[in-house]
Amino acid sequence: MRLIYTQHISFFSSVSCGKLETTKLATVMSGIKARKWLNKKPFQGLPKRDDFEIVEEELPAMKDGEFIAEAQFLTVDPYLRITALGIVVPGKLMPGSQVAKVIQSKSKDYSVGDVVLGEFGWSSHSISDGSKVFKLDSSSPIPHSTALGVLGMPGATAYFGLRDICQPTKEGQTFLVNAAAGAVGSIIGQLAKLKGMKVIGFAGSDEKIEYLKSLGFDVAYNYKTIPSLEAAIKESCPNGVDVFFDNVGGKFLETVIPQMSPTGRVAICGSISQYNNESETKSDFNILGYIQMKQLKVQAFLGWNFMDEWPVAFKEMGQMIQDGKLKYRETVFEGFDSMCDAFVSLFSSNNIGKVVVKV
Ligand SMILES: NC(=O)c1ccc[n+]([C@@H]2O[C@H](COP(=O)([O-])OP(=O)(O)OC[C@H]3O[C@@H](n4cnc5c(N)ncnc54)[C@H](OP(=O)(O)O)[C@@H]3O)[C@@H](O)[C@H]2O)c1
Repeated sequence: MRLIYTQHISFFSSVSCGKLETTKLATVMSGIKARKWLNKKPFQGLPKRDDFEIVEEELPAMKDGEFIAEAQFLTVDPYLRITALGIVVPGKLMPGSQVAKVIQSKSKDYSVGDVVLGEFGWSSHSISDGSKVFKLDSSSPIPHSTALGVLGMPGATAYFGLRDICQPTKEGQTFLVNAAAGAVGSIIGQLAKLKGMKVIGFAGSDEKIEYLKSLGFDVAYNYKTIPSLEAAIKESCPNGVDVFFDNVGGKFLETVIPQMSPTGRVAICGSISQYNNESETKSDFNILGYIQMKQLKVQAFLGWNFMDEWPVAFKEMGQMIQDGKLKYRETVFEGFDSMCDAFVSLFSSNNIGKVVVKV
């Protein structure tokens, strides 16, 4: 761990009219030390502890309109590993949302004790003027950590991915999702089931398969132990896959596409199997040929695009949670020092539901 010491008062000397004067510049500090995870160097393959460093910095004192928030729950998400996005920058703070409690305030809109969702990055304490910050409802019976999962970006991705991209039309249509026990997959599978679809989930451990069954998935396969992915799809979707929600990409996508029903729909949510892949070997699989002959509608999308409508989705899903119609789970890593372990766990099959770090 590297420590950065920030002095409370900085001095510099200046020469004025031939006379040496000492000018005192007061940099008023808050007295609050923030611990921060920085990216040290570009990821190569699976992210490692050595790709990060933790630094400690004292926050400056608040200006009028600002507040200081202390992290309670932080999210780790697979998109941080997508190098092409360019959002993880060596030497800079790891980005991401967190649920935090206001501990000091000079803002008329935020009081000490308020709990907020903010884009504060992997930082234990943050100073904010309130931009891109949402106050969380303290009276809600649903835990605040869900603002990072089912009632946050992954939940919105599931909600709008189903409503706007998958567009279920007929009851009984087959809906196939991979990474099905994860933050997005476990929610969209349940929402598809509530729309009357036959839901087939693929995940990477027997514990996850049991979980998917408990959520009401019609069929669930451990893709790591079944003899053939192709045979499992044929067995569960004998008339073809009507809707495919892809979180994984790569070989999985290539195996499903030939088994799509004519005019079926494919939602490209992510391709996590490729994020740590440095080689980018070219496949000669003619995916476009299948898309054309089957007249598939293939659409990639981002949950962020629907941000204006997120409150509508969260209100509806929050009610569904309270009514027992929508279930969610979290894998909680304890302690700020576990950010890296939590992030790396996304690329294994060890996490169920949304991965969060509790400080
Ligand atoms: N479009 C959007 O706006 C948006 C928003 C959020 C997330 N996403 C994408 O949605 C996907 C799921 O994200 P999430 O946040 O819900 O994560 P998650 O599913 O909670 O966690 C990631 C899961 O991916 C699976 N996985 C990891 N490495 C894999 C590999 N090499 N091959 C196959 N499966 C692998 C693992 O599940 P198994 O046990 O099944 O292996 C792991 O538990 C990701 O691709 C992510 O980038 C997109």
